[in-house]
Amino acid sequence: MGVLDGQTVVLTGAGSGIGRAVVRRYAAEGARVVAVDITERVGELSAELGEAVIPVVADVATWEGNVRAVRTALDAWGRLDVFVGNAGITDSARPLEDIPGDALPAAFGELFGVNVLAPMLGVRAALDALIASHGAVILTGSFAGSSAAGGGVLYTASKHAVEGLVRQLAYELAPDVRVNGVAPGVAPTRLRGTSALGQGMADSVLDGTKEALPLQEVPDTDAYGGVFTLLASRTDAGVMTGTMITADSGLAIRGIARPGGRVGR
Ligand SMILES: NC(=O)c1ccc[n+]([C@@H]2O[C@H](COP(=O)([O-])OP(=O)(O)OC[C@H]3O[C@@H](n4cnc5c(N)ncnc54)[C@H](O)[C@@H]3O)[C@@H](O)[C@H]2O)c1
Repeated sequence: MGVLDGQTVVLTGAGSGIGRAVVRRYAAEGARVVAVDITERVGELSAELGEAVIPVVADVATWEGNVRAVRTALDAWGRLDVFVGNAGITDSARPLEDIPGDALPAAFGELFGVNVLAPMLGVRAALDALIASHGAVILTGSFAGSSAAGGGVLYTASKHAVEGLVRQLAYELAPDVRVNGVAPGVAPTRLRGTSALGQGMADSVLDGTKEALPLQEVPDTDAYGGVFTLLASRTDAGVMTGTMITADSGLAIRGIARPGGRVGR
């Protein structure tokens, strides 16, 4: 028996990183998942996990892509219990002064299109099905959703916006749909940058990260599976809505002299 037996999920950004790890965990917990990504990599998940996963290649910054993802779940399983908005891109921590003013509108549109508009479109597309199932929404925020220096101006502002989305949607959809988020600190992934600024892929983990974390370990992407599973569970998270779960290896309580009080002892 899995914690998510019988639940159906649409999860975006499933092609790699945290999203891929959460799909694996959800499948292990008994859920069936429509795994959405802009890359074909998402097809590898159905090869690995069989009928528990249906891959959908779609741009989640479009209405059409989100409608297709939700329709795929409803056509296959007749219901939708959980929408996970996890797809994201980065600005590679580019400071405002290094972004030419005339490039800013396009970069803003591109980054906010994926990090903020996409979860809004996804929830809108899933709304009727989630209300019918008394389901849940989970959005992936970031340490950058409540602090500076987890990204540049675009990424940090976008992740602050995700926290606003969680709170507002939790209010608007209560009592029928629970809406929560996960704010990871670091995970060893390679996020795509904005093409508007000519950026490629960027390592999420920088030199010195391990030593800077109070918990002194860079967590694997699998480490986030449990938190996403908790929020999807009607039994275990039935009293939670409008909440961001901080999963940041202690970044928010980092010390000045030592990252953690017992580091180096
Ligand atoms: N890795 C970290 O250190 C870290 C820290 C805090 C928050 N996050 C957040 O975690 C989430 C997952 O990122 P990750 O680190 O696993 O990186 P990742 O690049 O491995 O995963 C992001 C996925 O989103 C997909 N994607 C991007 N744009 C898309 C679009 N328009 N339509 C559909 N899919 C799209 C990518 O193809 C990729 O598979 C993001 O929201 C990111 O901001 C990551």
